[in-house]
Amino acid sequence: MVKWLDDAVFYEIYPQSFKDTNGDGIGDFRGILEKLDYIEGLGCNAVWMNPCFESPFGDAGYDISDYYKAAPRYGTNDELKQLIDAAHDRGMHILLDLVPGHTSTEHEWFRASMRAEKNEYTDRYVWTDSIWEEPEGQGSLRGISDRDGSCLVSFFSHQPALNYGYYRPEKPWQQAMDAPGPRATVEELKRIMRFWLGIGCDGFRVDMAHSLVKGDEDGKGTVRLWQKIREFLEEEFPEAVMVSEWGEPDKSLAGGFHMDFLLHFGPSHYNDLFRCDEPYFSGRGKGDVSKFVRIYQENHKKTAGKGLICIPSGNHDMDRLARTVCKDELKVAFAFLLSMPGAPFIYYGDEIGMRYVEGLTSVEGGYNRTGSRSPMQWDASVNAGFSLAGEEKLYIPLDPAPDRPTVKGQMEDPASLYHEVKELIAFRKEHPALRSRGGIEFIYAEKNAYPFAYVRSAEDEKILVILNPSGQPASFACEYSLAEPLRSFGGKITQRDGSVTVPGGFYGFYRV
Ligand code: GLC
Ligand code: CA
Repeated sequence: MVKWLDDAVFYEIYPQSFKDTNGDGIGDFRGILEKLDYIEGLGCNAVWMNPCFESPFGDAGYDISDYYKAAPRYGTNDELKQLIDAAHDRGMHILLDLVPGHTSTEHEWFRASMRAEKNEYTDRYVWTDSIWEEPEGQGSLRGISDRDGSCLVSFFSHQPALNYGYYRPEKPWQQAMDAPGPRATVEELKRIMRFWLGIGCDGFRVDMAHSLVKGDEDGKGTVRLWQKIREFLEEEFPEAVMVSEWGEPDKSLAGGFHMDFLLHFGPSHYNDLFRCDEPYFSGRGKGDVSKFVRIYQENHKKTAGKGLICIPSGNHDMDRLARTVCKDELKVAFAFLLSMPGAPFIYYGDEIGMRYVEGLTSVEGGYNRTGSRSPMQWDASVNAGFSLAGEEKLYIPLDPAPDRPTVKGQMEDPASLYHEVKELIAFRKEHPALRSRGGIEFIYAEKNAYPFAYVRSAEDEKILVILNPSGQPASFACEYSLAEPLRSFGGKITQRDGSVTVPGGFYGFYRV
């Protein structure tokens, strides 16, 4: 297992919206380079960057037209390399976003694959052999080519699905995973990985990693495919790290991923925490953490020793954390995010409580996601310090709220969320029990109840974490006798007759 993951804390950067240095209203590599100091200062030692490759940007770059070339709006391949090198000089790591499931319709492979005559790319995508037959799935592209057939799409209609074969081919046009077409796709995928790992990136976040092999309900074919990729990495790039957008760690980690995210889709009940009608971390105190914990426990057991289950604060596809969890509630939420096993992932701006911007028109295929992708708010200067472009040129409009949080404002306020997050990261790093691979035992996680308590452990250290996001005091049976907390927020606990009562809006860490 790659060593640095032990105390990795990731920061997700949506490059469009982070920092613009040439006044075109769109963030760029140089902007990220300038802000490495900030990310390092927060305590994050690893970065995941959303796709930054050539693309018509119909899905914010998840529609790639050249995998080997940085999108000019962010800079050149050389500048990307400089950014990676600069991160390495600080002991930081950078993961790029790998989009293996589909390309843009503008990719030259797709253009070639639309031709009627057979060529090298005929089998690069999933095509039926007649326009009158559609493949089952997310829909298809039809009537757009001389080639007779319908092409399966993977997500939006302009994202044709690359061909990794069918787990059990049934129709004549469905190819087996080991047929020449799918094999060539896998070889190309390796070439892409080799290219960027060769330039120095530390690995990849893998887009829709669960979706590659078709007709594969249980994921067995896709798991096998990723196992092969892991073998390739072990041979050529044993230090490379892979994190999957999958949401089912029992499958993805069996497939050889080092880490998997819990997501707003899939069976994890992650949404119960922050994004549902009554989130557990809301002060209303009407949430339920028990289903999340039950599934987490099962997965943790099934994946023991294989890799990490990562719980993100949010990402570019979900509502901002601060849409449903506000003010001091966010501090308790971060105490949870930064004390669970697995590597934490902080979505840019969540550390200052950036808000979901309501009512925006979709930008580059963002739709409802656009409100979570607005420019980073650095300070009170023009465009919140994001860009010197005219306001109308900004990639996405800024949060218009007069009291929008900024990095500068929060750095100056010792009671801010920024400082809380920074201190929680430092605290996590000081305590082996709290790091990625430490153990976890749930002490109190009852149905519709507060507080929530668990013990993290490693070597000879054991730390009890108590979280009470609800606005009301809450009690639980506790066998430990608790001394002064190592760290806490929101008041003091009382302990009597084997029961601990904690104030509302509280978190505490205790050595046990
Ligand atoms: C993933 C990405 C999302 C994108 C989709 C298609 O879910 O996170 O932003 O639109 O895949 O690539
Ligand atoms: Ca720019």
